[in-house]
Amino acid sequence: MAANYDTLNTHPRNSPYGSGDPYYNESSGYITPQRPPKKTISKWVKFGIPVAIVVIAAAVLGGVLGTRGSKNSSSQSAAAAATSAISVKNDLGHFATATDSQYLLPIYPMTTNTAAFTTPTFVSTTNTNLAWPQDPFQPSNPSPTQVRSDRPRIIAPSYMWEALPNLINNDPYLSGWNDTIFGNASQYMSLPPVVYFLDGGNGILDPAREIKQRVKAFSYVYRLTNDTKWLDRTYAELQNAAGNLTGGWGPANYTKWNPTHFLDTAELTAAYAIAYDWLYDAWTADQRSSIMYTMIEYGLSNGIIAYSGNDPLAFGWWTNNTEGNWNCVCNNGLTMGALAILGDDTTGTAAQLLSMTIPDALQNCALAPSSDGTWSETANYWYFGTTGHAEMASSLLTATGSAYELTTVNPDFELTGLYHMYVSGPGSLFNYGDCGPNKYSTTANAMMFYGQQYNKPQYQLFQRDQFDAADPWSMFWYNPTVTGAFWDGLALDYFFDNSTDQWGSMRSSWTDENALYVAVKAGTLQGHQTHNDLDCGDFVVDALGVRWFGELGSGNYNAEGYFSSDAQNSERWLYYRKMTEGQNTILVDQQNQNVLAAPTIKHDSSGTVQGSSTVMDVPSDSSAYFVADLSSAYFNSTTFSRGVHLINGRKQVLIQDEINTQGTVMWRAHTNATVSLSADNLTATLTIGSATTTVQLLNPPSGAQFSTMEAVRFPTDPAVPAGNPDQPNDGVTVLVISLPAGSYTLEVLINPQWPGMSSSSYTTPSSVSLSQWSLTSPS
Ligand SMILES: *[C@@H]1O[C@H](CO)[C@@H](O)[C@H](O)[C@H]1NC(C)=O
Ligand SMILES: *[C@@H]1O[C@H](CO)[C@@H](O)[C@H](O)[C@H]1NC(C)=O
Ligand SMILES: *[C@@H]1O[C@H](CO)[C@@H](O)[C@H](O)[C@H]1NC(C)=O
Ligand SMILES: *[C@@H]1O[C@H](CO)[C@@H](O)[C@H](O)[C@H]1NC(C)=O
Ligand SMILES: *[C@@H]1O[C@H](CO)[C@@H](O)[C@H](O)[C@H]1NC(C)=O
Ligand SMILES: *[C@@H]1O[C@H](CO)[C@@H](O)[C@H](O)[C@H]1NC(C)=O
Ligand SMILES: *[C@@H]1O[C@H](CO)[C@@H](O)[C@H](O)[C@H]1NC(C)=O
Ligand SMILES: *[C@@H]1O[C@H](CO)[C@@H](O)[C@H](O)[C@H]1NC(C)=O
Ligand SMILES: *[C@@H]1O[C@H](CO)[C@@H](O)[C@H](O)[C@H]1NC(C)=O
Ligand SMILES: *[C@@H]1O[C@H](CO)[C@@H](O)[C@H](O)[C@H]1NC(C)=O
Repeated sequence: MAANYDTLNTHPRNSPYGSGDPYYNESSGYITPQRPPKKTISKWVKFGIPVAIVVIAAAVLGGVLGTRGSKNSSSQSAAAAATSAISVKNDLGHFATATDSQYLLPIYPMTTNTAAFTTPTFVSTTNTNLAWPQDPFQPSNPSPTQVRSDRPRIIAPSYMWEALPNLINNDPYLSGWNDTIFGNASQYMSLPPVVYFLDGGNGILDPAREIKQRVKAFSYVYRLTNDTKWLDRTYAELQNAAGNLTGGWGPANYTKWNPTHFLDTAELTAAYAIAYDWLYDAWTADQRSSIMYTMIEYGLSNGIIAYSGNDPLAFGWWTNNTEGNWNCVCNNGLTMGALAILGDDTTGTAAQLLSMTIPDALQNCALAPSSDGTWSETANYWYFGTTGHAEMASSLLTATGSAYELTTVNPDFELTGLYHMYVSGPGSLFNYGDCGPNKYSTTANAMMFYGQQYNKPQYQLFQRDQFDAADPWSMFWYNPTVTGAFWDGLALDYFFDNSTDQWGSMRSSWTDENALYVAVKAGTLQGHQTHNDLDCGDFVVDALGVRWFGELGSGNYNAEGYFSSDAQNSERWLYYRKMTEGQNTILVDQQNQNVLAAPTIKHDSSGTVQGSSTVMDVPSDSSAYFVADLSSAYFNSTTFSRGVHLINGRKQVLIQDEINTQGTVMWRAHTNATVSLSADNLTATLTIGSATTTVQLLNPPSGAQFSTMEAVRFPTDPAVPAGNPDQPNDGVTVLVISLPAGSYTLEVLINPQWPGMSSSSYTTPSSVSLSQWSLTSPS
């Protein structure tokens, strides 16, 4: 796999930071100097960037920004500059002033602070009030079974705990997160141990994750206070999950941690691993041995069975051919558990497991992001998958000195941080496919780890203002020398064009919650771990702080056949939220799209980048478009291409469809808005709260007009399996254009009613065929 690195990089990628990106080279793509392809790991990968690279980056930055100091500036003044950059940042405190109450996204002050909101950078300093010291454990020949001699081993070695109080005192983010974690731990302390709850489709995953979350917080607070009440409370939680408290917990046999839904087993194993390792010196010998044997009995032994390939309950399916979150989460839990007890475990289980989990994760988990960084499942599963991947890589690095290529075997893994940034709109995710509400203890804090591993300060800057950033992992993955603003120099648009994904992300600002955001996808309909919908052409539109056209999200995971397969005749495609009817695209003959779709796309962008200010002034000629030929997604010689164009300085959106088919045509888009139609049915007025957007059908073909429908299946659709009704889609209306078979161009213009924008400032674009689209036409 590593051998593919050069081949894949022969196609230069666009840097979203434009030509100012110090980590990007026009001909070779991203520069990731800290990734020596073959060697296991180099000494400085963990924390701290090699001095040479910082110097080069600083020189590039200086050149680009014209801020380079005098050539003979001494290293002393460089150190002073570094300290000063950090103090500018620290004086400012948190960038985000608040969190949006509906979506919990950061709200940035509308201001310019050119001293602080500058190019994302890790500044170079050895001042241990400001930066992590180097890990003293630097084995020259790392091996998965040769662990460091001191505790903890996992994610946060003792040298980091020693440095932490000083760093907390000098960094507003670390300080804020520390307070929140203490607060969270106190809150959990007052609750009874987590109650066993078996939910058909999700097993005991929620309780398992809640236990892990609590154990992390309790262990963290114990280590910073030495107050034994936290130790005792941790032990109560562990005994509870072992079934040793009154009333028991789950079955009284080896399936207690529900290995048939192995995620549950893995998360509980991880919880035990953290408690065992972080509190190692505080446990009595008896406690330690109880924790270890319970973990082996209900966790690690089941891992061995999963890998044996002949378990009667078939709970190891995720070990093979599963490039997604399951493989990451399951291998991670087993790896953390094994690392925690290595040396104490006389059964050989831990060492045996490490010889299985690491190679398996390299072949599966690590390949979950495709070559453009898109997580192959969905934007939501990115959270689970990257959390598992980052925990596993970080645990291996700290415990043994190497991540064994888990972060590098897929040379494009680092792009998955960009994927996360671009799939996040000003309100919420581009939530195509299975995308549900947040789950216990799942955060985007892998962004902190990836920021450090891949030398991408922007990932840390993006994540640190998010509501979920306060987490013990962030305390150790965050590099407090990070300065600047993630948006400074960041392109408004990015196109992810691997054939499995093919989607575009276009917006008018990175820092305005009312910004325009349009995301649209093509891509294949298979190869997504059966988490996708039949949704070629699907799009979302955000503006004015709300989502105008959106997704219905996950169906009922417990419904019969929901995950049966992604073949054309799968029962999954009987459910409204998964079938083509439930998407924002064109339906032909009321039939699902062809699962063998292989769309092609073209796209372009003015390359507009945001500057230092959080107030984004969009140039009037700034635009972007995405066009997909979706013909292969339809049967019976239908041809269909869809284009999406931002026009008028990103204030309006044109969606243009060119279709020729022998089946009936139905343009559909789902909205939470109240919809009212004009007398001629050519303009739809959408309102959500006090915000309004108009949607116009331009140059309507004969008979074309808007109508509305409920977001429910057609009576003529094939029935769902008995007893498995679709969920209601309360408050959702489908805006529809219905036409008989024929050849049409449909031009739908979306005009958010921006405050202060007069009606004469809205453009009616000229008609231009998709084949002739350019950045300036239509306009
Ligand atoms: C962490 O937060 C707790 C609770 O607010 C506080 O008591 C403690 O002093 C903080 N730790 C450091 C090192 O500042
Ligand atoms: C942790 O505390 C913060 C601040 O009080 C709160 O917003 C958050 O919901 C808590 N997190 C959890 C998981 O309880
Ligand atoms: C907790 O105990 C450890 C080990 O004895 C010690 O190094 C540390 O300073 C103590 N921390 C506090 C806050 O008392
Ligand atoms: C484990 O115990 C549960 C509950 O008592 C029971 O349903 C299940 O069959 C048992 N499993 C095995 C493999 O013995
Ligand atoms: C739970 O109880 C069993 C049976 O007494 C014991 O073997 C095991 O070590 C205990 N586990 C924990 C975590 O207390
Ligand atoms: C792994 O999965 C592939 C594809 O599904 C299959 O061909 C292969 O036999 C499986 N290997 C094992 C060891 O189960
Ligand atoms: C898409 O990504 C996969 C890796 O997930 C890679 O094997 C394939 O070559 C990529 N395709 C293109 C067209 O880049
Ligand atoms: C409706 O609003 C919810 C909550 O914001 C969002 O998750 C969903 O995607 C929206 N649905 C549509 C059809 O826009
Ligand atoms: C293809 O067209 C034929 C004739 O109109 C129709 O019977 C059939 O259902 C169509 N197939 C699909 C998959 O739409
Ligand atoms: C507009 O749509 C309504 C409801 O479908 C319909 O009654 C009306 O006749 C349509 N108006 C025109 C001008 O077609």
